[in-house]
Amino acid sequence: MPAEKKAGAAVAVVTGAARGIGLAVAERFLAEGYRVALLDIDRRTLRATEKRLGDTTRVLALECDVAAEKQVGRAVREIVRSFGRIDALVNNAGIAIFKPILDTSFAEWQRVLAVNLGGAFLCTHACAPVMMKSGRGAVVNIASISGLRASTLRVGYGTSKAAIIHLTKQYAAELGTVGIRVNCVAPGPVDTAMAKLVHSVAIRQDYYDAIPLNRYGTPQEIAAAVFFLCSDQASYINGQTLAVDGGFDALGIGLPTLRREFSPKAKMRKAAALVRSPEPD
Ligand SMILES: NC(=O)c1ccc[n+]([C@@H]2O[C@H](COP(=O)([O-])OP(=O)(O)OC[C@H]3O[C@@H](n4cnc5c(N)ncnc54)[C@H](O)[C@@H]3O)[C@@H](O)[C@H]2O)c1
Repeated sequence: MPAEKKAGAAVAVVTGAARGIGLAVAERFLAEGYRVALLDIDRRTLRATEKRLGDTTRVLALECDVAAEKQVGRAVREIVRSFGRIDALVNNAGIAIFKPILDTSFAEWQRVLAVNLGGAFLCTHACAPVMMKSGRGAVVNIASISGLRASTLRVGYGTSKAAIIHLTKQYAAELGTVGIRVNCVAPGPVDTAMAKLVHSVAIRQDYYDAIPLNRYGTPQEIAAAVFFLCSDQASYINGQTLAVDGGFDALGIGLPTLRREFSPKAKMRKAAALVRSPEPD
């Protein structure tokens, strides 16, 4: 039975939900019958999103900086007052500052760590006691392939994302004992405002070259993995990181060359060329 039909439908809290991946996650939970609290620091975009979703009984939009402990506490108290329960938390809010290591200031490093890592810590600490009252819950942290493999310009971003993968395991170890599963999704490149800001045309081509599926992911594909990990379908999955990246993380070197020369597509191209100009007999 869809959650909305049950008394006191399930509640998902999604941070950074005003746009991009967070919004797609919120929309997926709504489509599955959940009530959803959207937390975001960007008041204007949040209000526009709230208006567009247009469901005042099932949507609660709260302006909140996830790196500010008091704001997080206030937001979670408001969620409990309005909805009375929390079943899922998605720690999605994140920022990217891409700069060469030695040009990255300590303040920039600290802010990236405070939002991407500290935000997940604060929100989980605030929501877990509410989940514990019902004896079950699910948390999904959003990392990145930048947390699985190092790259240039990502000293703060990549480190924060690697750390959240480990933080996921730390939480899984302790919160698992009270029925709360904690998992992580590591997206590959996804076409959002964040990606548009930091991915140049050349970088986009590099991503295509490094991804067997040869394309960016969509926010909805990330949302599907997040929803799965929060659902009963994943009831025995705890402490895991799922890369949703078109195969990027599975790969070694040489994909563009091998794709050109030996892929099924290349074989079909060669066969078609032979048909067009058959060997003389
Ligand atoms: N887009 C990608 O290619 C990609 C790839 C891997 C991982 N990710 C991760 O996915 C998550 C979402 O990324 P996106 O591409 O949708 O980004 P986005 O910039 O489009 O959206 C991020 C949202 O988070 C909000 N936010 C930022 N700082 C906040 C704070 N302190 N408190 C509350 N809200 C805050 C922003 O206002 C924005 O609405 C991030 O954690 C990001 O690192 C994105």
